[in-house]
Amino acid sequence: MVQIPVYLDNQATTPVDPRVRDAVLPFLNLEFGNPHSRDHAFGWRAADAVRQARSSVAELVNADDDEIVFTSGATESCNLALRGIAKAETGSRNRIVTLATEHPAVLETVRDLAKSGFVAVVLPVGPDGIVDLGRLETELNDRTLAVSIMAGNNEIGVVQPLAEIGAMCGRSGVVFHTDATQAMGRMDVDVDVWQADLLSLSGHKMYGPKGVGALYVRHGCSLGPVFTGGGQEFGLRPGTVPVHLVVGLGEASNLAVDCWNEDAGRLTALTNRLKDGLMESCPGIRFFGSMEERLPGSLSIGLPGWPAQAVIARISKRIAVSTGSACSSDSSEPSVVLRALGLDPETAASGIRVSLGRFSTQRDVETALEVFSELPLGGLPSCPTRDSI
Ligand SMILES: Cc1ncc(COP(=O)(O)O)c(C=O)c1O
Repeated sequence: MVQIPVYLDNQATTPVDPRVRDAVLPFLNLEFGNPHSRDHAFGWRAADAVRQARSSVAELVNADDDEIVFTSGATESCNLALRGIAKAETGSRNRIVTLATEHPAVLETVRDLAKSGFVAVVLPVGPDGIVDLGRLETELNDRTLAVSIMAGNNEIGVVQPLAEIGAMCGRSGVVFHTDATQAMGRMDVDVDVWQADLLSLSGHKMYGPKGVGALYVRHGCSLGPVFTGGGQEFGLRPGTVPVHLVVGLGEASNLAVDCWNEDAGRLTALTNRLKDGLMESCPGIRFFGSMEERLPGSLSIGLPGWPAQAVIARISKRIAVSTGSACSSDSSEPSVVLRALGLDPETAASGIRVSLGRFSTQRDVETALEVFSELPLGGLPSCPTRDSI
Protein backbone atom coordinates (compact mmCIF):
# COMPACT_ATOMS: atom_id res chain seq x y z
CA MET A 1 0.00 0.00 0.00
CA VAL A 2 1.34 3.45 -0.91
CA GLN A 3 1.16 5.78 2.06
CA ILE A 4 1.24 9.54 1.75
CA PRO A 5 3.30 10.98 3.24
CA VAL A 6 5.91 8.24 3.27
CA TYR A 7 6.22 7.13 6.90
CA LEU A 8 9.77 7.50 8.20
CA ASP A 9 9.08 7.95 11.91
CA ASN A 10 9.20 4.38 13.15
CA GLN A 11 10.87 5.43 16.39
CA ALA A 12 7.68 7.31 17.34
CA THR A 13 5.54 4.29 16.62
CA THR A 14 5.41 1.40 14.18
CA PRO A 15 2.49 0.27 12.04
CA VAL A 16 0.70 -2.80 13.40
CA ASP A 17 1.90 -5.84 11.45
CA PRO A 18 -1.10 -7.40 9.63
CA ARG A 19 -0.24 -10.74 11.28
CA VAL A 20 -0.57 -9.06 14.67
CA ARG A 21 -3.89 -7.52 13.68
CA ASP A 22 -5.19 -10.96 12.59
CA ALA A 23 -4.13 -12.50 15.90
CA VAL A 24 -5.86 -9.71 17.87
CA LEU A 25 -9.21 -9.65 16.08
CA PRO A 26 -10.80 -12.81 17.56
CA PHE A 27 -10.17 -11.39 21.03
CA LEU A 28 -12.21 -8.33 20.15
CA ASN A 29 -15.01 -10.56 18.99
CA LEU A 30 -16.00 -14.06 20.14
CA GLU A 31 -13.11 -14.57 22.53
CA PHE A 32 -14.06 -11.81 24.92
CA GLY A 33 -13.61 -13.78 28.15
CA ASN A 34 -11.96 -12.43 31.27
CA PRO A 35 -8.71 -14.35 31.75
CA HIS A 36 -9.28 -14.27 35.49
CA SER A 37 -12.68 -16.03 35.27
CA ARG A 38 -11.94 -19.51 36.52
CA ASP A 39 -15.36 -21.06 36.18
CA HIS A 40 -16.06 -21.34 32.47
CA ALA A 41 -14.57 -21.91 29.05
CA PHE A 42 -14.54 -18.22 28.06
CA GLY A 43 -12.19 -17.50 30.94
CA TRP A 44 -10.08 -20.62 30.34
CA ARG A 45 -9.54 -19.77 26.67
CA ALA A 46 -8.65 -16.17 27.52
CA ALA A 47 -6.22 -17.35 30.21
CA ASP A 48 -4.67 -19.72 27.70
CA ALA A 49 -4.14 -16.89 25.22
CA VAL A 50 -2.49 -14.77 27.93
CA ARG A 51 -0.27 -17.71 28.89
CA GLN A 52 0.87 -18.16 25.31
CA ALA A 53 1.53 -14.44 24.88
CA ARG A 54 3.60 -14.38 28.08
CA SER A 55 5.62 -17.27 26.76
CA SER A 56 6.25 -15.46 23.46
CA VAL A 57 7.48 -12.30 25.19
CA ALA A 58 9.65 -14.41 27.49
CA GLU A 59 11.23 -16.19 24.52
CA LEU A 60 11.97 -12.85 22.84
CA VAL A 61 14.10 -11.64 25.75
CA ASN A 62 15.33 -15.10 26.87
CA ALA A 63 13.43 -15.12 30.16
CA ASP A 64 11.17 -17.53 32.01
CA ASP A 65 7.46 -17.01 31.50
CA ASP A 66 6.86 -16.00 35.11
CA GLU A 67 9.44 -13.22 34.81
CA ILE A 68 7.17 -11.26 32.43
CA VAL A 69 4.68 -8.73 33.82
CA PHE A 70 2.24 -7.18 31.35
CA THR A 71 1.80 -3.41 31.59
CA SER A 72 0.22 -0.62 29.55
CA GLY A 73 3.48 0.24 27.81
CA ALA A 74 7.08 1.17 28.41
CA THR A 75 6.28 4.29 30.45
CA GLU A 76 4.49 2.15 32.98
CA SER A 77 7.16 -0.55 32.84
CA CYS A 78 9.93 1.95 33.58
CA ASN A 79 7.89 3.45 36.43
CA LEU A 80 7.14 0.04 37.89
CA ALA A 81 10.79 -0.99 37.62
CA LEU A 82 12.26 2.10 39.26
CA ARG A 83 9.55 2.88 41.78
CA GLY A 84 9.22 -0.82 42.55
CA ILE A 85 12.91 -1.24 43.29
CA ALA A 86 12.91 1.93 45.38
CA LYS A 87 9.90 0.73 47.34
CA ALA A 88 11.44 -2.66 48.01
CA GLU A 89 14.72 -1.23 49.33
CA THR A 90 15.03 -1.63 53.06
CA GLY A 91 18.77 -0.97 53.41
CA SER A 92 20.92 2.07 52.83
CA ARG A 93 21.19 2.01 49.05
CA ASN A 94 19.56 5.20 47.78
CA ARG A 95 21.43 6.29 44.64
CA ILE A 96 19.90 5.72 41.22
CA VAL A 97 22.26 6.23 38.29
CA THR A 98 21.01 7.05 34.82
CA LEU A 99 21.99 8.95 31.67
CA ALA A 100 21.18 12.45 30.45
CA THR A 101 19.89 10.93 27.19
CA GLU A 102 17.27 8.64 28.74
CA HIS A 103 13.60 8.81 27.81
CA PRO A 104 11.43 10.91 30.19
CA ALA A 105 9.81 7.65 31.36
CA VAL A 106 13.10 7.01 33.18
CA LEU A 107 14.54 10.50 33.72
CA GLU A 108 11.37 12.00 35.18
CA THR A 109 10.78 8.95 37.35
CA VAL A 110 14.29 9.12 38.78
CA ARG A 111 13.89 12.87 39.35
CA ASP A 112 10.59 12.25 41.09
CA LEU A 113 12.15 9.60 43.33
CA ALA A 114 14.80 12.17 44.22
CA LYS A 115 12.03 14.16 45.93
CA SER A 116 11.54 11.36 48.42
CA GLY A 117 14.98 10.56 49.73
CA PHE A 118 16.68 8.96 46.73
CA VAL A 119 19.64 10.54 44.99
CA ALA A 120 19.47 10.93 41.21
CA VAL A 121 22.84 10.64 39.51
CA VAL A 122 22.40 11.71 35.89
CA LEU A 123 25.59 10.97 33.98
CA PRO A 124 26.66 12.81 30.82
CA VAL A 125 27.39 10.95 27.59
CA GLY A 126 30.23 11.45 25.13
CA PRO A 127 29.76 13.35 21.83
CA ASP A 128 28.86 9.97 20.30
CA GLY A 129 26.02 9.49 22.81
CA ILE A 130 27.70 6.60 24.60
CA VAL A 131 28.16 6.27 28.36
CA ASP A 132 31.67 6.56 29.76
CA LEU A 133 32.08 3.15 31.40
CA GLY A 134 34.95 4.35 33.60
CA ARG A 135 32.79 7.16 34.94
CA LEU A 136 29.87 4.79 35.46
CA GLU A 137 32.08 2.45 37.48
CA THR A 138 33.02 5.25 39.87
CA GLU A 139 29.31 5.71 40.62
CA LEU A 140 28.79 2.08 41.65
CA ASN A 141 29.27 1.69 45.38
CA ASP A 142 27.48 0.29 48.39
CA ARG A 143 25.03 3.22 48.35
CA THR A 144 24.02 2.60 44.73
CA LEU A 145 20.64 0.98 44.41
CA ALA A 146 20.10 0.83 40.65
CA VAL A 147 21.40 1.77 37.25
CA SER A 148 18.91 2.55 34.49
CA ILE A 149 20.47 2.80 31.05
CA MET A 150 18.52 2.38 27.85
CA ALA A 151 19.41 -0.12 25.14
CA GLY A 152 18.85 2.02 22.02
CA ASN A 153 18.09 5.73 22.08
CA ASN A 154 14.72 6.92 20.83
CA GLU A 155 16.10 10.04 19.15
CA ILE A 156 19.59 9.25 17.93
CA GLY A 157 19.41 5.44 17.84
CA VAL A 158 22.69 5.01 19.73
CA VAL A 159 23.12 1.61 21.39
CA GLN A 160 24.84 1.44 24.79
CA PRO A 161 27.42 -1.23 25.80
CA LEU A 162 24.81 -3.21 27.72
CA ALA A 163 26.75 -6.39 28.47
CA GLU A 164 29.58 -4.34 30.02
CA ILE A 165 27.12 -2.24 32.04
CA GLY A 166 25.28 -5.35 33.23
CA ALA A 167 28.52 -7.06 34.26
CA MET A 168 29.62 -3.96 36.18
CA CYS A 169 26.30 -3.76 38.00
CA GLY A 170 26.41 -7.47 38.78
CA ARG A 171 29.87 -7.14 40.36
CA SER A 172 28.64 -4.27 42.56
CA GLY A 173 25.34 -5.82 43.59
CA VAL A 174 23.48 -3.00 41.84
CA VAL A 175 20.15 -3.63 40.12
CA PHE A 176 20.35 -3.04 36.36
CA HIS A 177 17.25 -1.83 34.53
CA THR A 178 17.35 -1.24 30.80
CA ASP A 179 14.67 0.50 28.78
CA ALA A 180 14.84 -1.67 25.65
CA THR A 181 11.76 -0.16 24.01
CA GLN A 182 13.56 0.88 20.84
CA ALA A 183 15.74 -2.21 20.59
CA MET A 184 12.94 -4.76 20.34
CA GLY A 185 12.80 -6.39 16.91
CA ARG A 186 15.87 -4.46 15.79
CA MET A 187 18.62 -6.31 17.62
CA ASP A 188 19.16 -9.46 19.66
CA VAL A 189 17.77 -8.86 23.13
CA ASP A 190 18.92 -11.31 25.78
CA VAL A 191 18.57 -10.52 29.47
CA ASP A 192 21.32 -13.00 30.35
CA VAL A 193 23.86 -11.57 27.90
CA TRP A 194 23.08 -8.06 29.24
CA GLN A 195 22.79 -9.33 32.84
CA ALA A 196 19.68 -7.18 33.12
CA ASP A 197 17.55 -7.54 36.25
CA LEU A 198 14.72 -5.48 34.80
CA LEU A 199 13.86 -4.69 31.18
CA SER A 200 11.08 -2.51 29.79
CA LEU A 201 9.45 -2.87 26.38
CA SER A 202 6.42 -1.57 24.51
CA GLY A 203 4.06 -3.12 21.93
CA HIS A 204 3.75 -0.14 19.63
CA LYS A 205 7.48 0.16 18.92
CA MET A 206 7.64 -3.43 17.66
CA TYR A 207 4.71 -3.63 15.22
CA GLY A 208 2.23 -4.44 17.97
CA PRO A 209 -0.67 -2.47 19.47
CA LYS A 210 -0.48 0.69 21.53
CA GLY A 211 -1.40 0.52 25.20
CA VAL A 212 0.47 -2.66 26.04
CA GLY A 213 3.99 -3.42 27.16
CA ALA A 214 5.90 -5.63 29.51
CA LEU A 215 8.42 -5.53 32.30
CA TYR A 216 10.89 -8.37 32.66
CA VAL A 217 11.67 -8.97 36.34
CA ARG A 218 14.52 -11.40 37.04
CA HIS A 219 13.79 -14.11 39.61
CA GLY A 220 15.03 -12.84 42.96
CA CYS A 221 14.78 -9.17 42.01
CA SER A 222 12.33 -7.81 44.52
CA LEU A 223 9.91 -5.01 43.58
CA GLY A 224 7.45 -3.27 45.86
CA PRO A 225 4.02 -2.94 44.25
CA VAL A 226 3.20 0.50 42.90
CA PHE A 227 -0.51 -0.27 42.42
CA THR A 228 -2.85 -2.18 44.66
CA GLY A 229 -5.83 -4.20 43.57
CA GLY A 230 -6.72 -7.75 42.71
CA GLY A 231 -3.20 -9.16 42.72
CA GLN A 232 -2.95 -9.94 39.01
CA GLU A 233 0.43 -10.11 37.29
CA PHE A 234 2.21 -11.57 40.31
CA GLY A 235 0.81 -8.77 42.48
CA LEU A 236 2.77 -6.19 40.53
CA ARG A 237 0.16 -4.95 38.09
CA PRO A 238 -3.34 -5.50 39.34
CA GLY A 239 -6.29 -5.09 37.00
CA THR A 240 -7.89 -7.24 34.33
CA VAL A 241 -5.31 -8.17 31.74
CA PRO A 242 -6.36 -6.74 28.33
CA VAL A 243 -6.33 -10.03 26.45
CA HIS A 244 -6.50 -8.62 22.91
CA LEU A 245 -3.57 -6.26 23.51
CA VAL A 246 -1.49 -8.90 25.23
CA VAL A 247 -2.19 -11.35 22.39
CA GLY A 248 -1.01 -8.63 19.99
CA LEU A 249 2.19 -8.16 21.98
CA GLY A 250 2.70 -11.92 21.98
CA GLU A 251 2.34 -12.18 18.20
CA ALA A 252 4.59 -9.13 17.73
CA SER A 253 7.16 -10.94 19.87
CA ASN A 254 6.88 -14.12 17.79
CA LEU A 255 7.47 -12.04 14.67
CA ALA A 256 10.40 -10.23 16.28
CA VAL A 257 12.02 -13.57 17.12
CA ASP A 258 11.54 -14.75 13.53
CA CYS A 259 12.28 -11.50 11.70
CA TRP A 260 14.68 -9.32 13.69
CA ASN A 261 17.80 -10.59 11.98
CA GLU A 262 16.46 -10.23 8.46
CA ASP A 263 14.81 -6.90 9.31
CA ALA A 264 18.07 -5.61 10.76
CA GLY A 265 20.05 -6.54 7.65
CA ARG A 266 17.54 -4.93 5.31
CA LEU A 267 17.20 -1.82 7.44
CA THR A 268 20.96 -1.39 7.67
CA ALA A 269 21.25 -1.56 3.87
CA LEU A 270 18.40 0.94 3.40
CA THR A 271 19.81 3.30 6.01
CA ASN A 272 23.25 3.19 4.40
CA ARG A 273 21.71 4.07 1.04
CA LEU A 274 19.82 6.94 2.69
CA LYS A 275 22.92 8.21 4.43
CA ASP A 276 25.08 8.06 1.28
CA GLY A 277 22.38 9.78 -0.79
CA LEU A 278 21.94 12.53 1.80
CA MET A 279 25.67 13.15 1.91
CA GLU A 280 25.65 13.62 -1.86
CA SER A 281 22.64 15.90 -2.09
CA CYS A 282 22.84 17.91 1.16
CA PRO A 283 26.24 19.61 1.48
CA GLY A 284 27.31 20.08 5.08
CA ILE A 285 24.74 17.61 6.45
CA ARG A 286 25.59 16.31 9.91
CA PHE A 287 24.82 12.93 11.44
CA PHE A 288 24.43 12.89 15.21
CA GLY A 289 25.52 10.11 17.55
CA SER A 290 27.77 7.13 16.95
CA MET A 291 27.44 5.75 13.44
CA GLU A 292 28.78 2.37 14.53
CA GLU A 293 26.78 1.65 17.69
CA ARG A 294 23.29 2.32 16.41
CA LEU A 295 19.93 0.71 15.87
CA PRO A 296 19.32 -0.43 12.30
CA GLY A 297 17.00 2.00 10.53
CA SER A 298 17.79 5.03 12.66
CA LEU A 299 19.42 8.30 11.53
CA SER A 300 19.64 11.62 13.32
CA ILE A 301 20.55 14.39 10.89
CA GLY A 302 20.97 18.15 10.82
CA LEU A 303 21.19 20.60 7.93
CA PRO A 304 23.46 23.47 8.93
CA GLY A 305 21.64 26.75 9.43
CA TRP A 306 18.25 25.06 9.04
CA PRO A 307 16.06 24.64 12.10
CA ALA A 308 14.38 21.24 11.96
CA GLN A 309 10.96 22.87 12.04
CA ALA A 310 11.72 24.83 8.87
CA VAL A 311 12.78 21.66 7.06
CA ILE A 312 9.81 19.68 8.31
CA ALA A 313 7.34 22.36 7.32
CA ARG A 314 8.66 22.09 3.76
CA ILE A 315 8.73 18.32 3.48
CA SER A 316 5.89 17.08 5.66
CA LYS A 317 3.44 16.67 2.80
CA ARG A 318 5.70 14.04 1.27
CA ILE A 319 7.63 12.42 4.08
CA ALA A 320 6.84 11.98 7.77
CA VAL A 321 9.95 12.56 9.89
CA SER A 322 10.22 14.28 13.25
CA THR A 323 12.23 16.64 15.37
CA GLY A 324 12.85 14.03 18.05
CA SER A 325 10.95 12.26 20.73
CA ALA A 326 7.20 12.22 20.11
CA CYS A 327 6.79 12.41 23.87
CA SER A 328 8.41 15.81 24.09
CA SER A 329 7.39 17.12 20.70
CA ASP A 330 5.11 19.71 22.29
CA SER A 331 8.22 21.46 23.47
CA SER A 332 9.86 24.05 21.22
CA GLU A 333 13.16 23.70 23.09
CA PRO A 334 16.03 22.01 21.20
CA SER A 335 16.28 18.31 21.95
CA VAL A 336 17.68 17.48 25.38
CA VAL A 337 19.31 14.41 23.87
CA LEU A 338 21.17 16.40 21.20
CA ARG A 339 22.19 19.01 23.77
CA ALA A 340 23.58 16.16 25.89
CA LEU A 341 25.93 15.30 22.99
CA GLY A 342 27.48 18.72 23.54
CA LEU A 343 25.79 20.39 20.56
CA ASP A 344 25.09 24.13 20.75
CA PRO A 345 21.38 25.12 20.83
CA GLU A 346 21.28 26.07 17.14
CA THR A 347 22.79 22.79 15.97
CA ALA A 348 20.59 20.83 18.36
CA ALA A 349 17.56 22.66 16.96
CA SER A 350 18.47 21.38 13.49
CA GLY A 351 18.11 17.72 14.54
CA ILE A 352 15.72 15.61 12.50
CA ARG A 353 15.00 11.98 13.30
CA VAL A 354 14.54 9.69 10.31
CA SER A 355 13.61 6.15 11.24
CA LEU A 356 12.85 3.26 8.93
CA GLY A 357 10.96 0.14 9.91
CA ARG A 358 9.88 -3.31 8.77
CA PHE A 359 7.57 -1.88 6.11
CA SER A 360 9.95 0.75 4.73
CA THR A 361 10.97 0.16 1.14
CA GLN A 362 13.73 1.16 -1.25
CA ARG A 363 11.17 3.40 -2.90
CA ASP A 364 10.51 5.20 0.39
CA VAL A 365 14.21 5.89 0.70
CA GLU A 366 14.42 7.20 -2.87
CA THR A 367 11.43 9.47 -2.21
CA ALA A 368 13.10 10.82 0.92
CA LEU A 369 16.30 11.49 -1.03
CA GLU A 370 14.37 13.30 -3.75
CA VAL A 371 12.56 15.44 -1.17
CA PHE A 372 15.76 16.40 0.66
CA SER A 373 17.59 17.11 -2.62
CA GLU A 374 14.84 19.62 -3.59
CA LEU A 375 15.41 21.76 -0.49
CA PRO A 376 16.93 25.14 -1.40
CA LEU A 377 19.90 24.48 0.81
CA GLY A 378 21.85 27.45 -0.51
CA GLY A 379 18.99 29.82 0.37
CA LEU A 380 17.99 31.32 3.67
CA PRO A 381 15.58 29.13 5.57
CA SER A 382 12.42 30.58 6.96
CA CYS A 383 9.67 28.91 8.91
CA PRO A 384 6.48 28.69 6.83
CA THR A 385 3.42 27.42 8.65
CA ARG A 386 2.00 24.07 7.67
CA ASP A 387 -0.94 25.87 6.04
CA SER A 388 1.23 27.96 3.77
CA ILE A 389 2.84 25.03 1.98
C1 LIG B 1 12.98 4.59 24.75
C2 LIG B 1 11.54 4.75 25.11
N1 LIG B 1 11.15 4.47 26.35
C3 LIG B 1 9.86 4.57 26.72
C4 LIG B 1 8.91 5.00 25.84
C5 LIG B 1 7.47 5.09 26.29
O1 LIG B 1 6.75 4.05 25.68
P1 LIG B 1 5.17 3.96 25.75
O2 LIG B 1 4.66 4.85 24.68
O3 LIG B 1 4.87 2.52 25.50
O4 LIG B 1 4.76 4.37 27.11
C6 LIG B 1 9.27 5.32 24.53
C7 LIG B 1 8.27 5.85 23.58
O5 LIG B 1 8.53 6.83 22.90
C8 LIG B 1 10.63 5.17 24.15
O6 LIG B 1 11.03 5.45 22.91
